[in-house]
Amino acid sequence: MAIERTFSIIKPDATARNVTGAINAMIEKSGLRIVAQKRIRMTREQAEIFYAVHRERPFFRELVEFMISGPVVVQVLEGDNAIAVYRDLMGATDPAKAADGTIRKVLAKSIGENSVHGSDAADTANKEIAQFFAGNEIIG
Ligand code: CMP
Repeated sequence: MAIERTFSIIKPDATARNVTGAINAMIEKSGLRIVAQKRIRMTREQAEIFYAVHRERPFFRELVEFMISGPVVVQVLEGDNAIAVYRDLMGATDPAKAADGTIRKVLAKSIGENSVHGSDAADTANKEIAQFFAGNEIIG
C-alpha cells in the first residue's frame, strides 16, 4: 500500500455543533494522521472554485451558501491508502444511507449538511490540497 494524502473539510454543520474534536478522534482512530489543519471562513469565491464540478447541479447555490455560512476546518490527512480509507470512514454522502460507525452516520444531519468532505481521487486530492495549503504548511 502507498502512503497517500487526502483533503478533508469539517463542514459548518459540524463546527456549529462543536464536534470537530469528535471527528478528529474518529480520523486518528482510523490510523490517518492529520498533517495540516486550519479553521477558516471560506469565501464565496473559494467555495465556487472548490465545487466548480457541481456548478450545473440544482443544489450548487445551496451548497455554496452552506459552505460559507460558518467556519470550516480544512485538513490534509496522510496514511496508507488515505483517500479510500477516509471515504470509508466518512460513509455515504447521504447520512441516511451511511454505514454504522461512519462519521456521517454518527454525526451528519442531511445530504447537504453532511459534516465532512473528502477527496474522491488522487488528482482531485492534489488539486484540493493546493487550493488551501502551501507546501510548507503540511508537516508529515
Ligand atoms: P461533498 O463530498 O462535499 O461533495 C459535494 C457535496 O454536494 C456533497 O458532499 C453534498 O454535501 C452536496 N450534495 C450532494 N447532493 C446534494 C443534494 N441533493 N442536495 C444538497 N447538497 C447535495
